[in-house]
Amino acid sequence: MIILLLSCGARTAPSTEPQPTAYHDQFTVAAVARVPDPARGGPPVHDGASPLPPFLGVDRATARYVGAEACSTCHAEAAEVWSSSRHADSIRTLDAAGRGHDPRCLSCHVTGMGHPGGDRPGLAMVGCEACHGPGSTHAAAPASGYGVLPSDGAACVGCHTHDTSPDFRWQAYWPAISHSR
Ligand code: HEC
Ligand code: HEC
Ligand code: HEC
Ligand code: HEC
Repeated sequence: MIILLLSCGARTAPSTEPQPTAYHDQFTVAAVARVPDPARGGPPVHDGASPLPPFLGVDRATARYVGAEACSTCHAEAAEVWSSSRHADSIRTLDAAGRGHDPRCLSCHVTGMGHPGGDRPGLAMVGCEACHGPGSTHAAAPASGYGVLPSDGAACVGCHTHDTSPDFRWQAYWPAISHSR
């Protein structure tokens, strides 16, 4: 942390505060990614809940989390990319660090924590719904569409923050998990 502060300070004016990186200036969406449920028709969000991406077409009053396995039956190609990514292993990383039950760590390493339906089995990873939003209504009626996301870091920076992922840039990170047609 000290090293981070010093190196940031060296590049810009001397400061005791961490400086936002260029990508944070570019994507002023961190606040959007953390818009609480009530703004989308859902119940209040507790501190330490998983960040919410700026998904579209998700009715927060009725949609619940179903888990990545339920998506995989219909989206085989996306599922293949996802299951070989580090997102699919995110809870094992915490376990390996001896922090698999630490509530301060879980919110970004699991899916849907603190949100309706976010406490069922099959969510102990950064699953499809961590980015696309709870998918029960879509899985039941796929033609209705759901979970459309922009081609930028808006769905990422709630978790990939300056502190947790200082090297994050959309252009560098998306290709590693890209699954659009
Ligand atoms: C029963 C089959 C089925 C299931 C289950 C399913 N989908 Fe879909 N999904 C579809 C179909 C069909 C479409 C629309 C056709 C298309 O564009 O591929 C679609 C479209 C999408 C889109 C694009 C939406 C748009 O409007 O462009 C996303 C994102 C998506 N699904 C994600 C998911 C996720 C995440 C899950 C699990 C929560 C899931 N799907 C579960 C069949 C399914
Ligand atoms: C719910 C939180 C969350 C969201 C949202 C999220 N990530 Fe992640 N991401 C993580 C975590 C946690 C890890 C580390 C997993 C591990 O190592 O076990 C990670 C790791 C990664 C890695 C691997 C990095 C490496 O060093 O190998 C890539 C690439 C990545 N994410 C891309 C993205 C992109 C692109 C988006 C947005 C479209 C995104 N992530 C959205 C939590 C998230
Ligand atoms: C704000 C969201 C967030 C929280 C909270 C969070 N992490 Fe992470 N974590 C991430 C992301 C994003 C990555 C992937 C970083 C990358 O590769 O760019 C990650 C990666 C990791 C890694 C892989 C090594 C690394 O540094 O890339 C470990 C270990 C880890 N986290 C442990 C923890 C622990 C322990 C806690 C609790 C003290 C925690 N995380 C809390 C988002 C988070
Ligand atoms: C780390 C965040 C993240 C995860 C996890 C994730 N997606 Fe996506 N997905 C995105 C983003 C961002 C886009 C839009 C990218 C673009 O348009 O450039 C997208 C696009 C899609 C599309 C639409 C493709 C298109 O071109 O219209 C489908 C379908 C989809 N994802 C399904 C899934 C399924 C199924 C899973 C899980 C197996 C999954 N995604 C996991 C972030 C994610």
